[in-house]
Order: sequence, then structure tokens, then C-alpha cells
Amino acid sequence: MKETILITAANGTVGSETVKLLAGTDFRVRAGVHSLIKGERFRPLPNVELVHLDLHNPELLKVALTGVTKVLLITPFSQDQAALGKLFIQAAQAAGVRHLVRLSASGADAEPGIQLGREHREVEISLQDSGIPYTILRPAGFMQNFLLNAETVCNHNSLYLPIGHGKISYIDARDIAAVAVAVLTQAGHENQIYELTGPEAIGINDVAHALTVATNRVITYVDVPENTAATAMLQHHVPEWMVNQLLELYGVYKAGYAERVTDAVEKITGRPPRNIANFAQDYQNHFQPV
Ligand SMILES: NC(=O)c1ccc[n+]([C@@H]2O[C@H](COP(=O)([O-])OP(=O)(O)OC[C@H]3O[C@@H](n4cnc5c(N)ncnc54)[C@H](OP(=O)(O)O)[C@@H]3O)[C@@H](O)[C@H]2O)c1
Repeated sequence: MKETILITAANGTVGSETVKLLAGTDFRVRAGVHSLIKGERFRPLPNVELVHLDLHNPELLKVALTGVTKVLLITPFSQDQAALGKLFIQAAQAAGVRHLVRLSASGADAEPGIQLGREHREVEISLQDSGIPYTILRPAGFMQNFLLNAETVCNHNSLYLPIGHGKISYIDARDIAAVAVAVLTQAGHENQIYELTGPEAIGINDVAHALTVATNRVITYVDVPENTAATAMLQHHVPEWMVNQLLELYGVYKAGYAERVTDAVEKITGRPPRNIANFAQDYQNHFQPV
């Protein structure tokens, strides 16, 4: 019988790409979706079934994990993501999961690090202590985060961020999904931690340049002060705890702590990771004014 792989947060950036790549492989894919309506897009895919999954709800966890041998555990960027991750690991243990791949974050083991990293490390430790064979993926910042800047790129030809001249080894989420698929479907990745990055460390000026080329409009990076960024996020109803965690993260970027580049994507998938020009080209329609 085919093994079943559960993907949590399957409607999200990494989860949705992973479901698409796994469809058509020799595995049965269970897409754990928080919103069933959004998950409908997966219905036409071969070997994919939908399950309603709210990580707060132990009953739904039990149902979603029935008959599952492998999992990609993704938790939303929420205030309680450490608690949600740990609750899920307990449920996976009870269900007899044989391999759990965890989407963590770069810098999770930094000391003292930042709040977001510490929360990810808490989940990593709980997984490592659980006895479930695991693989931990620690990706750098996602290129897809720039989709959140699409509105100002479209309306003002500007990318506003408080990152100074910091360089970041941004990774395309599609490459994280490709790694997740390799790790879930091939042997030899148990009890490993992989630091995943794009091919180079780039500044936001480089991102603006890639968007300029892809959209054929001049896009400019505007380095804004932290408090201006905080005010704008609050005005856009970003909750205060999230604003604080993002500012901490931007501080790490600005200070140059997110520059490290690894060759893990190529080693694991056999293909070099996409660069920012590839990302800008593939997503350019998001950055074009309507
Ligand atoms: N963005 C980055 O640069 C970055 C870098 C490193 C690590 N990470 C980590 O990546 C993870 C997020 O992954 P992502 O960006 O792929 O996700 P995402 O696009 O932010 O999507 C999160 C998904 O979580 C689902 N969700 C919300 N509440 C839920 C709940 N109570 N139970 C179950 N699912 C719920 C939502 O589902 P519906 O759409 O169905 O409502 C949503 O699609 C976080 O742990 C973050 O720390 C992010």
C-alpha cells in the first residue's frame, strides 16, 4: 500500500508548493488545510486528499494523522506557534508517525537569538526529544515575502523596508518545497538539520533591480526608519506582537547576520536554487499595476 504523507498549513506558501510537487509521486498526499474552501484547488491533483486541520484542535489532529507515516510540519507565523508545534508532535508520536520533517527557520539555534528563532528552537528540541525520526529544515527569508510589498511596488514603484544595506541569503519557497519532497520521499535524511538558502546574499537594492528588469519599470528601494515601518504595519492592522518580531528580524538582517549561503538545496535536490531574477521574472505579474 502507498504511504501517506501529511502536509500541514498546506494552503500556505511552502505547503502549497510541496503538495503540488508531491502530487503524482508514488505517495498518497494528505493536504491538511485550515480553510477547506481554499484547499479546493488541490482536488484535481492526483493522489491528493484534503483534510480539515486546525492545529489548535486535538480531535482534528487525530483524524488528520490517521494512517499517516510521514509529515511535513509547518506552523503559521502566530503568537503561539511553539505551542502548536509541540502539540502536533505529541499527536504525531501517539499516531506512530515514522518520519517528521519540520519547517523551522534560519537562526533557530542562535544565542540569544530573537523571539521567532527561539520559538522555532523550542519546537526543534521537542521534536528531537520525541524519538520520532526527524529532519529539520532551517530556511533563510523567503523571496515570496516580497509579495507583501507588491502594493507599494505597483502604486509607487518603491520597496519600503527598514533593512539598510544588510544582505540576506533569500531563498525561493519553491526550492524549500523541492527539498521537503526529496527529504520526505528518499532515504537517508533522518535526524539531519539542513540550513537552506538561495544562491547568494543580496541586498534590497538587488531585489529592486531584479523587479526593475522583470517589470520594465524603475523600482527603487527606500530604506525607512524602524519607527516608520512599525507605524505603517500597525496602520495595515498587523498585530503589535508581529510588528515587534518583524522589527527584531529586520534588525538581524540589517546587522548582516543573515548572509550565510549554503549549498544544501543543490546537494539535496540536484539542482541549484533559484535566484532573485528568476523569482522576479516568475512573479512579475504580481508587481504590475492593474
Ligand atoms: N517567511 C519567511 O521568510 C520564513 C523564513 C523562515 C521560516 N519561516 C517559517 O515558515 C512558517 C510559515 O510557512 P509559510 O510561509 O509557508 O506559511 P504561510 O504562507 O504564512 O501560511 C500559513 C498557513 O497556515 C494556515 N493556518 C493558519 N492558522 C492555522 C491553524 N490554526 N491551524 C492550521 N493551519 C493554520 C493558513 O491556512 P489557511 O490559508 O487555510 O487559512 C495558512 O495558509 C512559519 O513557521 C515561519 O516562521 C518563514
